[in-house]
Amino acid sequence: MGAAGPSNDVLDEIFNRTINSRSIFLNRDVLRNDYIPDHILFRDDQISQFGSILAPILRGNKPSNIFLYGKTGTGKTVVARYVTKKLYERILKLNLNTKFLYINTRLASTQYKMLVELGAQLDISLPFTGLSLSEAASRIFDKMKRDGINTIIILDEIDYIVKNYDDNILYEFTRVNNELLNGNFISIIGISNDLKFKEYLDPRVLSGLSEEEMVFPPYTVDELEAILTDRIKTAFRPGVVSESAVKLCASLAASEHGDARRAVDLLRVAGELAEREGSDVVDTDHITKASRSIERDRTYEVIRSLPLHGKLILAAVLAAVLAAPEDINTGRLYSNYTSMARSLGVEPLTQRRISGILSELDVLGVVNAPVVSNGRFGRSKRVKLVVPREVVSRALQEDELISSILK
Ligand SMILES: Nc1ncnc2c1ncn2[C@@H]1O[C@H](COP(=O)(O)OP(=O)(O)O)[C@@H](O)[C@H]1O
Ligand SMILES: [Mg+2]
Repeated sequence: MGAAGPSNDVLDEIFNRTINSRSIFLNRDVLRNDYIPDHILFRDDQISQFGSILAPILRGNKPSNIFLYGKTGTGKTVVARYVTKKLYERILKLNLNTKFLYINTRLASTQYKMLVELGAQLDISLPFTGLSLSEAASRIFDKMKRDGINTIIILDEIDYIVKNYDDNILYEFTRVNNELLNGNFISIIGISNDLKFKEYLDPRVLSGLSEEEMVFPPYTVDELEAILTDRIKTAFRPGVVSESAVKLCASLAASEHGDARRAVDLLRVAGELAEREGSDVVDTDHITKASRSIERDRTYEVIRSLPLHGKLILAAVLAAVLAAPEDINTGRLYSNYTSMARSLGVEPLTQRRISGILSELDVLGVVNAPVVSNGRFGRSKRVKLVVPREVVSRALQEDELISSILK
C-alpha cells in the first residue's frame, strides 16, 4: 500500500458510512437552543398570565412592564418568544403599528452594542463608536417617534448588563414618556436568570421595570422526561433513543435544578456522538459522555467570554484559592482584585458592583458566592471556587491582559 493509502481508506470509510447510513436524526434543528417548540409543556399558567398582561396592545394600549424570573432552563425565553410570536401574528392582521424587539444582553455584551442592535431592529444604523449612550438612546427614541410606532422591548438575560455595567440605560428606557415619543409607548419585558437580581437595581429603575412579575419554577424530573420525550418525536427517528437514556438525561438535567436547556443540550450532544460512532441508537453511554463534554466546554467558554472585570475577579479568586484555599473572604478578594486592576492601569469597580459580578459568577456556576442583601458585602462572607482550578487558569490565560498578571 502506498504512503497515502491508509488515510485515504479511512476517509473513504467515513464518507461511505455517511452516504450509506441513514441519519439517526429526523430533524436536528429542533434540538437547537433557539428553537421554539410547537407545544410548550407545563407552562400554561405562565403563558396565559403573560398573554393577558400583553393583550392590551391589541387595542393600542400600553401593557405594563414585566419581569420574568427563574433559573436557567425554566422556559422563560421560550415562553416569551412563543407568546410574542402569537401576538405579532394578531398585530399584523389588525394592521397595528407595533413592533417587538428582542435582545439578549449577554450576547450583545456591552450596553452600547445592545443599543446598536436595538437600532438595527428598527432599521437605523448607529455608528459603532463615537456616540454617548444617551445620544444613541435618543436616536432610537427619535426613530420610534418619527415612525409613530409602539414598541415592546424584550431584554433577555438583563441581569448580565446590569451586573457588569450599570442601570443608567435601563433608566432612560423606563423614563421615556409619551411626550418624547409623541403619544407612542415603549414597554419593557425584562428576563433574568438570577432571582436575586433586583438587589442590584436602583429602586427607581426597579419600580419602573417590575410593574408585573412572573416566576418560573424549575422543572421536576418527570416534567423534564415529558419535555424530552416530546422533543425526541420530532428530533430522532422512532426507536433511536432508549428509554433508559431519556431517564438518565432527565435526571442529570435535574441534578442541580430542573433545567430543560441542559436536558435538550445533553440530548443533542449525545445524538451527535452516537452518529459519529456510527451507532444507530442513543444509549446511556452517549448521555454520560455528552454530560462530561458539555461541562468541560461550558466552564471554559463561560470564563473565556467574561468581560474584563469578571475575569479580574476570577483571577483574584484564583490567587486567593492558591494562597489559602479554605479561607477566601470577600475582604481578601476585594484587595486582591483592586491591586490586580491597578497593576493593569484599570480603575477598580466599587464593592457593590463586584458583589453583583460575583453573584453573576455564582449564577453561571463558576463560584459559590454567599447571598448578600442590598448588593453589599458582609464581612464574614466566604467565596468558593466550584470548578476545577486548571480550567479557570487555562481560560484566563487566553486573555493577554489577564495572563500578564497571572504570572
Ligand atoms: N415547557 C417547555 N416545553 C418544551 N420545551 C421547553 C420547555 N421549557 C424549556 N424548553 C426547552 O428548553 C430549552 C431552554 O429553555 P429556555 O426558555 O431557553 O430557558 P430559560 O430562558 O429559562 O433559560 C429550550 O431549548 C426550550 O425549547
Ligand atoms: Mg433564556
